[in-house]
Amino acid sequence: MRQPVVNLSNCLFKRFLQTQNTVKHAKQQANNLKGKSKSSQDWLIRQLADPYVEKARMLNFRCRSAFKLLEMDDKYKILKPGDVVLDCGAAPGSWTQVAAERTNANGKVERAPRGAVYSIDLLHFHAVPGATIFGGMDFTTPLAQQRLRESLAGRQVNCVLSDMAPNATGVRMLDQESITNLCYEVLKFALAMSAPQANLVVKIWDNGDVPKLERDILCHYEKVKRVKPRASRGDSAEHFLLARGYKGPTPVPA
Ligand SMILES: C[S@@+](CC[C@H](N)C(=O)[O-])C[C@H]1O[C@@H](n2cnc3c(N)ncnc32)[C@H](O)[C@@H]1O
Repeated sequence: MRQPVVNLSNCLFKRFLQTQNTVKHAKQQANNLKGKSKSSQDWLIRQLADPYVEKARMLNFRCRSAFKLLEMDDKYKILKPGDVVLDCGAAPGSWTQVAAERTNANGKVERAPRGAVYSIDLLHFHAVPGATIFGGMDFTTPLAQQRLRESLAGRQVNCVLSDMAPNATGVRMLDQESITNLCYEVLKFALAMSAPQANLVVKIWDNGDVPKLERDILCHYEKVKRVKPRASRGDSAEHFLLARGYKGPTPVPA
């Protein structure tokens, strides 16, 4: 029997037209925002002009942030099938989607080792196949960390991710201090729970405290790199510190 012929260029052309229509539609919506605040209009227009927003929608990612982790993983190979991953500040869940896929926590690849993903956020968010979700929990509290430890049940973590960001107050110094504190909380937990050779990714907003944080991380990991993925907006101070090769617990001097 003849197989149906799929005309790829036709499909791509239809996709292109759909995208164009979406953009046109959203531009009309932006025009309809008359009377709304300027920041709402600016936000919508920026979303429209952003190719990652449309790409995330087409690939069923919950938000455009997925491409930041995909790019870092493609380049630095921080996730592999069978890994145990902790995703801090995970809502709405696009990093968790990527991690569940790349570690095979979702069990899609039968013959590959199956990983596990634990995701936590202050907000409640929808389940991601293969991930254990801790919604409505503050990662920095002893209760949340106790729950994570119990759930890990003695398994060591191969990769700790943090895309956590505090609610910005607009006071630069305060905001920078808050995000740096979040990074140290994540680092502390990672040092206690990680397997040797584990990786760590933390989001930072570029500020004067970053070099010290970088040095502190480097005491425990073989390499640390400051990374700005293409999907991270050029006008934002956002960067990631990507650390590879956890050296393991420091031996207590005799
Ligand atoms: C940029 S979003 C994360 C997006 C996510 N990586 C994704 O791809 O869907 C930052 C998240 O950090 C969370 N967050 C901030 N402080 C937190 C804390 N102390 N504990 C848990 N989550 C926190 C926020 O609620 C927010 O959902």
